[in-house]
Amino acid sequence: MSKLFKNIFTFLLAVGNAYAQLPRPLVNYPLGLSPVFDQGFFSGTASPPYTVQQWAPGKAPQACVNELAWNNCISGRAVVYNITYNDCNKPWVMCRCENADLSINQMANFFGRMPVHLRSVVRHVMATHQDGCSAYAITGPDDGDIVMQGNCNTQSVWLHETGHQLDARGLGTGVGFSTSQIFTDALWNDTCVADDYGNTAPWEEFAQMTVVSQSHAIYGYIQQQQYPGCFDYQLAALENAFKLSYLTYGGTCTTRIPPTPPVNAVWKRGVSRRGVKRVGPCKFDHLVTTHTHKH
Ligand SMILES: *[C@@H]1O[C@H](CO)[C@@H](O)[C@H](O)[C@H]1NC(C)=O
Ligand SMILES: *[C@@H]1O[C@H](CO)[C@@H](O)[C@H](O)[C@H]1NC(C)=O
Ligand SMILES: [Zn+2]
Repeated sequence: MSKLFKNIFTFLLAVGNAYAQLPRPLVNYPLGLSPVFDQGFFSGTASPPYTVQQWAPGKAPQACVNELAWNNCISGRAVVYNITYNDCNKPWVMCRCENADLSINQMANFFGRMPVHLRSVVRHVMATHQDGCSAYAITGPDDGDIVMQGNCNTQSVWLHETGHQLDARGLGTGVGFSTSQIFTDALWNDTCVADDYGNTAPWEEFAQMTVVSQSHAIYGYIQQQQYPGCFDYQLAALENAFKLSYLTYGGTCTTRIPPTPPVNAVWKRGVSRRGVKRVGPCKFDHLVTTHTHKH
C-alpha cells in the first residue's frame, strides 16, 4: 500500500461510516466556486433596500461580545447596527470590530442578496479584521451566527456560511442535514463533489452545494461543470428538502432567531469561548471579487 493510501485507509477506519464517503475522486469545479458563480450572483441578485441604525457605544449583543473578544477585537471597539430590510420588519443585529475589513454596507448588501427565508436561519452577522478571508458559522442550538474574518467580499462565501446554518437548522430538528442518511446516500450515489473544499467534510460539501443550488435557483441551470450531472443526487436531495422553504426568492421571515440580549461591550483579554459548536474556519481559494459596493 502506498503511504497516502494507507493514511486515507486508516482515516476511513477511524472516522467510521458517515464520513467514509469523502474524499471522492472527482471534483466538478477544480478552481473552487467563486470563479464560476460570483459574477452571476452579482449581476443576478440585489439586496432589498435597508435602513442602518447604529447603536450607541457601550452595549453589544452577548453573542457579539463573545466572538469579537475571541477574535482579538480590542475591548470597546464593537460597533453594532440594526439592519432592517424592507422585506422583514425585524432588524438583523450586525456587529463589526472597528477595524473589520468589511464595511457595514458591504455586510448588509451581501447578506441582503440572499432570499429572506434563507437569511432567517442566521441570527447575528459579524465581521472582524484578518489578512485574506476565512469565515465560520456558530451552529449550536442556541446560536446561529456567521462570522466573516477579513475581506470576505464575495457572495459565494456568504452563501457557504449561511449554508452551514441551513444545514444545522433547516429541518428544524437540530440535526445536521449533511450527516443525514438522505444526504450521505446522495453523496455516495454521485460521482463527484463540488470542489476540493467540499471534499474535506460532508458539511463543507453541503455548504458548497448551497452555493450551487442558489445559482440554480437564479439561473435555472448549472454553469461550467467539468463532469455534467456528477453531483445531481446531492443537488436533488438538498433542493427537495430546502428549495421552496429557503432557496427561492420571496418567502417570509417568520422563523427568525431572536437576537441575544445587549450587554456591556467590554471584555478581558484572552477570553475563553463558550463550548458551542463552530463550523470552520472555512478557507476559500481563488476568490474572485466581482465588484465593490460604493457607499
Ligand atoms: C434595534 O432593534 C431592536 C429590536 O427591534 C430595538 O429594540 C432597538 O431599539 C433598536 N436600536 C436602535 C439603535 O435602533
Ligand atoms: C441513489 O440512487 C438510486 C438509484 O438510482 C436511487 O433510487 C436513490 O433514490 C438514490 N438515493 C439518493 C438519496 O439520492
Ligand atoms: Zn464551511
